[in-house]
Amino acid sequence: MLKIFKDSDPLLRTRAKQISLPISDSDRELALAMLEHLKESQDPLFAAEHNLRPGVGLAAPQVGESKHIIVVHIPRGKTERLTYVLANPIIISSSVRRAYLRSGEGCLSVDENHPGHVYRHYKIKVKAFDILKNEEIEINTFGYPAIVLQHEIDHLHGVLFYDRINEENIVKYPDALSL
Ligand code: CO
Repeated sequence: MLKIFKDSDPLLRTRAKQISLPISDSDRELALAMLEHLKESQDPLFAAEHNLRPGVGLAAPQVGESKHIIVVHIPRGKTERLTYVLANPIIISSSVRRAYLRSGEGCLSVDENHPGHVYRHYKIKVKAFDILKNEEIEINTFGYPAIVLQHEIDHLHGVLFYDRINEENIVKYPDALSL
């Protein structure tokens, strides 16, 4: 279980640093601890006992490390999970089409409710170093996982989801998909 830094902390507004490769043992341990935190947060008993909010993604600045590491762990069905443990993720291409989560976005670092649509790219291609596979990879994804990846990559640049809530966007992306 890691300490989660809140959006009031300047660290959440700081541009994080790239990870030097090959990845160090301490950076790998940090990434694996972040994955473990997400797994624990999704375990109803553990989460209730430790007062954890369930999360599907985490970026290193949220746990006090200003580094380009993100972890995504998305439930798919009863037992399957979509997991990414990445260093230095970069979006190398993205669709013109936008998408947003109908219920809005949330963040483990944000306690207040920020209603409003966060318009993201519906499809993205991400280049990153996969810490679990220990190799450079490209991820082609769309829909919910693409939204989660964009949310986490934003954290590496000091951007929070509510920065992207803007009434004008509703006019800007009239054909955005609601997910
Ligand atoms: Co977040």
